[in-house]
Amino acid sequence: MTLAVWSEKYATGIDTIDAQHRRLFQAINRMEEAYLAGTEEAEAQESLAFLARYTLEHFETEEALMRNIGYPMLEFHQKEHADLMARILDMKAKLDEGFLVPIHGADFAAHMANFAADWLAHHINEADMGYVQFVKERPLGDG
Ligand SMILES: [Fe+2]
Repeated sequence: MTLAVWSEKYATGIDTIDAQHRRLFQAINRMEEAYLAGTEEAEAQESLAFLARYTLEHFETEEALMRNIGYPMLEFHQKEHADLMARILDMKAKLDEGFLVPIHGADFAAHMANFAADWLAHHINEADMGYVQFVKERPLGDG
């Protein structure tokens, strides 16, 4: 099942951000598929490790952009990012430590993928669109 499908309604019009959001959706799906299909454990772990790395990279890109444009909601937005990173890293630690037996690992990964897909869709439409609007009103390099 494909959980997280990118669509035009998530388009920010900022190419780098849109490309990263698309990859995040793909990474969430890849992770869910890897666990549900009972893929080799190392590969399943890697799909989650990739999601964690890429999410961090994406958040750094967004936060640098918000800082550059003097976005007033930066702190609030950063807090949302930090909360999600904490949840992803917590899940990663549990799976890495073998805390979860495989079948529960799959349930847990599916649960997490659902949560992440939902989080991403809402976060783009609510939080991200805030800085997008700010960029549009105040083009980059305009003070
Ligand atoms: Fe964001």
